[in-house]
Amino acid sequence: MPDRETLAAALARIADPTGGGDVVATGRAAGLVAKADGSAGLVLSLDGLDVRTAERLHAAVDRAVRAAGASAVTIATTAERGAAPALRPAVVPGVRTILAVASGKGGVGKSTVAVNLAVALARQGFAVGLLDADIYGPSVPTLLGLRGRGQVADKRLVPAEAFGIRALSMGMMTDPGKAVIWRGPMASAAMTQMVEQGDWGLLDILVVDLPPGTGDIQLTLAQKLKPTGAVIVSTPQDLALVDARRAIAMFAEVDVPVVGVIENMANFVCPSCGDDIDIFGHGGARGAAATAGVAFLGDIPLDLGLRLASDRGTPPAAGEGRSATMFRGIADQVATALAL
Ligand SMILES: Nc1ncnc2c1ncn2[C@@H]1O[C@H](COP(=O)(O)OP(=O)(O)O)[C@@H](O)[C@H]1O
Ligand SMILES: [Mg+2]
Repeated sequence: MPDRETLAAALARIADPTGGGDVVATGRAAGLVAKADGSAGLVLSLDGLDVRTAERLHAAVDRAVRAAGASAVTIATTAERGAAPALRPAVVPGVRTILAVASGKGGVGKSTVAVNLAVALARQGFAVGLLDADIYGPSVPTLLGLRGRGQVADKRLVPAEAFGIRALSMGMMTDPGKAVIWRGPMASAAMTQMVEQGDWGLLDILVVDLPPGTGDIQLTLAQKLKPTGAVIVSTPQDLALVDARRAIAMFAEVDVPVVGVIENMANFVCPSCGDDIDIFGHGGARGAAATAGVAFLGDIPLDLGLRLASDRGTPPAAGEGRSATMFRGIADQVATALAL
């Protein structure tokens, strides 16, 4: 359990955005308490800050106090009358940003990307949640090596904690061997419920692994939960790119900014001959991104090690190696694009 001095020292490393020294010295952060249960509380004044700056400061304070060892942080914000900024999307209190991970087709590695991106962001110090909203083919439990059913406490779904992230999956609610047959509206309601009733705590980012395509669930997410942005995962071959373009167009239509496109299974280095073989082609997603005027976030090779580690429930982004570096690079770009 960290003591008050340790927490105060961590806060004192954050500069007051309006100048005059650190947030403790200027009195912007005050009333710090270190509670017996390991959690902490403080009052943060948002006077004179615009919404974006206030959001960033709030997140920085939250992150610093947690990094100093507090198990949870309660930040009471104050602001002059009329200047109270809307800190977060009202739909999900405590969740700063929502990132949708989408694809036009299934089997392109969307879940693999969502999980590793979430783990990479957590390694950078962000508080990260992962929602597996692929009602029809949830794979997050496998990818994170989660076993057993989800828990409910105080009528809220309790996310599983693994590799530094908090995760909820439809796969934790249903029988693995049983077919889940749902009409669109029910599936959409289930997703919304997991976002809104999940006991996420304070999150910098909630990554949502969507089912493939541009159906009900995607539209519900876009309209009800108003994600901060979306990334599109595609393999390079034309067949997949047609669907990826459709996904980009759908998000544009519902006003969700597309943060960028990731090309997965880009190339394959033959382990026996060392030749670079483009099984699905190469560079197609980069081209599609350029045509659509959205950023290209990187390409991920077809890699046996990545597949094996994924099936074992150990995301490569949590390890060292080449894959970890690659996912860190993609996570960096996402963090910048979302102003995390
Ligand atoms: N870059 C890659 N190299 C090798 N295997 C991959 C790669 N990306 C994904 N896979 C494998 O392909 C399969 C489908 O990936 P998955 O993430 O479940 O796709 P989706 O969520 O789009 O249906 C999984 O077995 C996964 O391990
Ligand atoms: Mg999937």
